[in-house]
Amino acid sequence: MQSPTRILRLDASANPAESASKQLGDRLLQKARLSSGEIDLRQRDLNQGLSFIDPSWVGANFTPADERSPEQRARLALSDELIGELQWADHIVLTTPMYNFSVPATLKAWIDLVCRAGVTFHYTPEGPVGLLEGKRVDIVITTGGVPLDSPVDFLSGYLRQVFGFIGLTDVNIVAADRMNVDAETSFSTAVDQIEQSFSAAA
Ligand SMILES: Cc1cc2nc3c(=O)[nH]c(=O)nc-3n(C[C@H](O)[C@H](O)[C@H](O)COP(=O)(O)O)c2cc1C
Repeated sequence: MQSPTRILRLDASANPAESASKQLGDRLLQKARLSSGEIDLRQRDLNQGLSFIDPSWVGANFTPADERSPEQRARLALSDELIGELQWADHIVLTTPMYNFSVPATLKAWIDLVCRAGVTFHYTPEGPVGLLEGKRVDIVITTGGVPLDSPVDFLSGYLRQVFGFIGLTDVNIVAADRMNVDAETSFSTAVDQIEQSFSAAA
């Protein structure tokens, strides 16, 4: 019997109720369920429980793993857990709005916690190389007024760069951009993109 597809869902919107990016994430998961059969789902709201890296975190990270004190290991425990989730997943679904032309601060906090030299990427004479591989990444982006891929979209290219940096290059972006201009059209365009991305993958 085929083992279930392991899906990690990450949500960044700070909107607790009618979040468009989370609604589209629900749609995407429905399609993933239909196309993969059985799934094993882990979900994380990035607004809950994350902390920013600080001098004690950086000091712990720069200390060789076998020399870390119990306090330093504890300082890196959340980062280890988040990276463990990424390593576990076959498929990552990230939903995020644009905040001030880029990622919400909670998503940036997550990025800082999972991009770790020697763990998710390493340096080689040819430059940094990502250490994760073989995972599909779907990113749902919503914006109020900024068009995707416009000169002031510092979100979509940045996220592609970050995932590529840790080795994940199979990145599909679904966008409901300019929601404040014509929400209905933006949303239905994104739903169509979801449909197409799964029929293309089938
Ligand atoms: C704090 C904040 C900053 C925002 N900054 C931008 C922005 O820079 N550009 C933009 O197009 N929309 C911006 N928006 C609008 C959101 O991206 C948009 O409303 C999006 O649809 C929200 O997604 P959600 O419903 O999943 O939370 C901002 C919204 C908030 C709350």
